[in-house]
Amino acid sequence: MKRIGIVGTGSYVPEKVLTNYDLEKILDTSDEWIYTRTGIRERRVAAPDQAASDLAKIASERALEAAGMSPEDIELIIMATITPDTHCPAGANWLEAKLGAVNAVSMDITAACSGFIFALSVAEQYLKNGVFKNALVVASEVMTRTVDWTDRASCILWGDGAGAVVLKEVSDESGILSIHIHTDGLNGDTLLLPGGGSKTTPISHESVDKKLHFLKMIEANQSFKVAVRKFAEACEEALDYNGITLDEIKLIIPHQANLRILQGMAKQLGISMEKVFVNIDRYGNMSSATVPVALDEAVRKGLIQKGDLILLTAFGGGLTWGSALIRW
Ligand code: UT7
Repeated sequence: MKRIGIVGTGSYVPEKVLTNYDLEKILDTSDEWIYTRTGIRERRVAAPDQAASDLAKIASERALEAAGMSPEDIELIIMATITPDTHCPAGANWLEAKLGAVNAVSMDITAACSGFIFALSVAEQYLKNGVFKNALVVASEVMTRTVDWTDRASCILWGDGAGAVVLKEVSDESGILSIHIHTDGLNGDTLLLPGGGSKTTPISHESVDKKLHFLKMIEANQSFKVAVRKFAEACEEALDYNGITLDEIKLIIPHQANLRILQGMAKQLGISMEKVFVNIDRYGNMSSATVPVALDEAVRKGLIQKGDLILLTAFGGGLTWGSALIRW
């Protein structure tokens, strides 16, 4: 069986920084409340002329450079996003054009905050089956465009960014050892973006007045508890499947939903936070983009060396969750 590995990583976050102190000026909130409840200090906001494909383009170029490849080399592009430039064409189609990836076929995956792991699993299958020789998997989100800036309970969480990886067959012991993905559609109505789909189109004065085009979090503290449990279960599933223990894992790179969720996960797994990569303080929750942005940061900081085992895990709207165990 072919083994598929990550041969290059890249990421990009927009220049504009929005701090908790900036939010204090427009909301009844405080840096202290946001930081203690979420671990977030600041987040990035895309420029008005930047859509998801623009962020994705820069992240992808950096990943391709790291892989020593050019856009024309790419055969498959999968973009995870819940904030594509447009629903038709797909975000990935815009990216394909902007990159000049003239030999690629491109498509989007919608799996909210777990999108990167879902996209990775789809790309891995195509490569294992030999349909394509390589793939660019990118997650890009402009979450700040979906945010109701008057809803202090949720708007403080989100930020914009993009991360990308290049996948290819590898011939040594490195590569993706397992990917597990799960969904629970029956309980998906706690994290939702009700407007913009066929249920609420055409957009009407009424749908805009009802703020249906903004992200809603219903019973957020309930999804907090589910998230802790699902993150831990996803990690355990990957360990059990591969017959390894947490001691053998160099770094867990989780979706950055809330620092307290990650601390809850670490407690449930019985590990210290030193094993858990955290950058939520600087970027907030960038939905599907958090995992590849964190992965790229960890790689570029030298936190991951050849041969290390790393565990990616995510949980989000859908509900969706999953894991990927990778030997670097
Ligand atoms: O990425 C997908 C996965 N992510 C999630 O599932 C999100 C999970 N949920 C969370 O991260 C947390 O539930 C939140 C950060 C959204 C909220 O934290 P919490 O500790 O669950 O707070 P809460 O909703 O229970 O609110 C506590 C209090 C309330 O006041 P009262 O009713 O106790 O008087 C809120 O009105 O804090 C108030 N509050 C705020 N105060 C200052 C809510 N938002 C704010 C705010 N600033 N921004």
